[in-house]
Amino acid sequence: MSDLSQTVLSVRNLQVSFRGGDGLVRVVHGVDFDLKAGETLALVGESGSGKSVTSFALMRLLPDPPRSQISGHVSIGGVDLLALSDRDMEKMRGPRIAMIFQEPLTSLNPVHRIGDQIAEAIRFHRKMTRREIEARVLELLKLVGIPEPAKRMRAYPHELSGGMRQRVVIAIALALEPDVLIADEPTTALDVTVQAQILDLLRELQTRTGMAMLFITHDFGVVAEVADRVMVMYSGRIVEEGALDDVLARPRMPYTRGLLASVPRLETAGLDTGPLGTIEGFVPSPNALPPGCSFAPRCAFAQEGLCTSAMPELAAHGQPHHPVRCVRAADPALCADLQELQP
Ligand SMILES: Nc1ncnc2c1ncn2[C@@H]1O[C@H](COP(=O)(O)OP(=O)(O)OP(=O)(O)O)[C@@H](O)[C@H]1O
Ligand SMILES: [Mg+2]
Repeated sequence: MSDLSQTVLSVRNLQVSFRGGDGLVRVVHGVDFDLKAGETLALVGESGSGKSVTSFALMRLLPDPPRSQISGHVSIGGVDLLALSDRDMEKMRGPRIAMIFQEPLTSLNPVHRIGDQIAEAIRFHRKMTRREIEARVLELLKLVGIPEPAKRMRAYPHELSGGMRQRVVIAIALALEPDVLIADEPTTALDVTVQAQILDLLRELQTRTGMAMLFITHDFGVVAEVADRVMVMYSGRIVEEGALDDVLARPRMPYTRGLLASVPRLETAGLDTGPLGTIEGFVPSPNALPPGCSFAPRCAFAQEGLCTSAMPELAAHGQPHHPVRCVRAADPALCADLQELQP
């Protein structure tokens, strides 16, 4: 079990751009965060906000340059992943950082038995005999709660249910006991009962191994169940960050309040999320960001000039540490109406 006060992943000024018909378009605009051993940090935001691109950048799984460009620093154990050769990065994927992908049903190879797919993940990194690897595969299948593992390891993906396939995907991600696990919407494709089982499983595995988890979702209901800390992302930027309880009880950014208001489970838990209701409009396209705050065109509290001239900094205001990218949250005189909405 790792030292739980230890920072295992440190991300600084992460920027990602893609080259397409419109030239180079930036979709991640300088993301900063730290992740400690044993901690679960939720990355939340609507579709298209840049959550998956951020996680692919951490794994160095974006299209090769010049189709994509990454800059900044992504450090694990003092090693900057963005500075590694492709070969050295391959050695980090698995034991240091692993990912459960958003599309679990397509991340298994349909023509290989699941046991062989788990074995392959181990063989690349560890000098183990066939027998040792098979024993480890069985152990992993048991760990992720697959019944009759000796029989199931010879099954092909299509012979398993969606929930069982997702357990296999988790077994592959955990095969080398990563320091950091990125789970990108790991339960979206699953029904509610299986979703609860998978969340329980991830929590239990985390307690056992002390791995740090970056948990990506658009669902604040899931966030409330899994996270210690929350980062809200909008248009490729972190717009609010804080401890789970603090963000749920005192969301500062109108966007966060809107996300919370659309979660019925939280309302029934007694949280008054204010009159924002659902958020009108859409996440702007990365090649047509509005001037000023990217959320201003959809924000019920936006003021012409103040909110539409410059992008606010992600600024902390007092304790507890709960920075927010909103000029109105920064100035008490300007955010009286937001204050009134406080639950
Ligand atoms: N390979 C790519 N080339 C060009 N643009 C891309 C590429 N991948 C993603 N994008 C763009 O980057 C932006 C962020 O996409 P991303 O997939 O990270 O969103 P997301 O927050 O994960 O959304 P979702 O909740 O739907 O998974 C989107 O505008 C998307 O169109
Ligand atoms: Mg995504």
